[in-house]
Amino acid sequence: MKHDNVNEDNACVLKTRTDQRPEIKGFEIWLVWSDRRLTVAPGQTVLAVLEAAGVPVEPGCLSGGCGGCATPYVEGNLIHKDSCLSASERNRLFCPCVSRAEGTLVLPF
Ligand code: FES
Repeated sequence: MKHDNVNEDNACVLKTRTDQRPEIKGFEIWLVWSDRRLTVAPGQTVLAVLEAAGVPVEPGCLSGGCGGCATPYVEGNLIHKDSCLSASERNRLFCPCVSRAEGTLVLPF
């Protein structure tokens, strides 16, 4: 169905760009020591997934500002969204209350 006021080409581009925003894409966590795989759904925080799985994390501000939830990782394409970790800390830690990943995030649990 074609609408006179909608440019279908632009609508398609907008949808594609929106769907690729990392904060709305899901991804997988692999807890390598226990060999468990968890799924972070779009709109869900890593912190919520880890807490539900019984992984020890200590939440604080829940907004990426305190570093209380800083968690080590083994590897992964992280999208850091905190405002508290230094660049060198981000090489080994991330804040699961706000940060996300693309692909599989490997954690030492
Ligand atoms: S709870 Fe404060 S940075 Fe995550």
